[in-house]
Amino acid sequence: AQDVHGDLDHVLMTTEQIQDTIKDLAAQIDRDYEGKDVLLVAVLKGAVMVMADLSRALHSHVTLDFMAVSSYGSGTQSSGVVRILKDLDADLMGRHVLIVEDIIDSGLTLSWLKTNLESRGPASVEICAFLRKPEAMKVEIDVKYVGQDIPNEFVVGYGLDFDEKYRNLDFIGTLAPHVYS
Ligand code: PRP
Ligand code: MN
Ligand code: MG
Repeated sequence: AQDVHGDLDHVLMTTEQIQDTIKDLAAQIDRDYEGKDVLLVAVLKGAVMVMADLSRALHSHVTLDFMAVSSYGSGTQSSGVVRILKDLDADLMGRHVLIVEDIIDSGLTLSWLKTNLESRGPASVEICAFLRKPEAMKVEIDVKYVGQDIPNEFVVGYGLDFDEKYRNLDFIGTLAPHVYS
């Protein structure tokens, strides 16, 4: 992708580590959903890379759907008050729903989303988050599948952005402080 050396501090996950993690997650999910159809729900835009890779690594029968939400509140902090910009196409009644996210930061977005999807009559709703920042979480959420827990640093790449940039990096890195301060 682009030359971003000066913008990054260090590499957190290489392409190879990302793909190994995807394989591990897919194996767990395949085992747990054996014989079931799974509806994968990704939250735009950060989760698109995880969705693309995870869905292709799975052997289970899957359907893909996408949602766009916006959390009210200022700047980079999410407030927990969420507005749906694009809803799912799928009817969730009786479906096994697996929410696919790139990262859990405060957890406020997912906490709201899980409750929202659970109100639509699904057979189950679980969460797969590629990254999680335990130190940043403000609410308790039951996350069934976690790729990797990471420190509370600003991370970009593999779908994760800062100001809409760096999403297309094929690795995950931490942003150098001079970029955001
Ligand atoms: C980011 C990230 C998660 C959410 C996590 O999305 O992709 O969806 O924030 O934050 P939280 O745990 O504090 O709620 P963002 O709102 O930046 O939109 P994006 O996916 O389009 O980048
Ligand atoms: Mn997101
Ligand atoms: Mg973002």
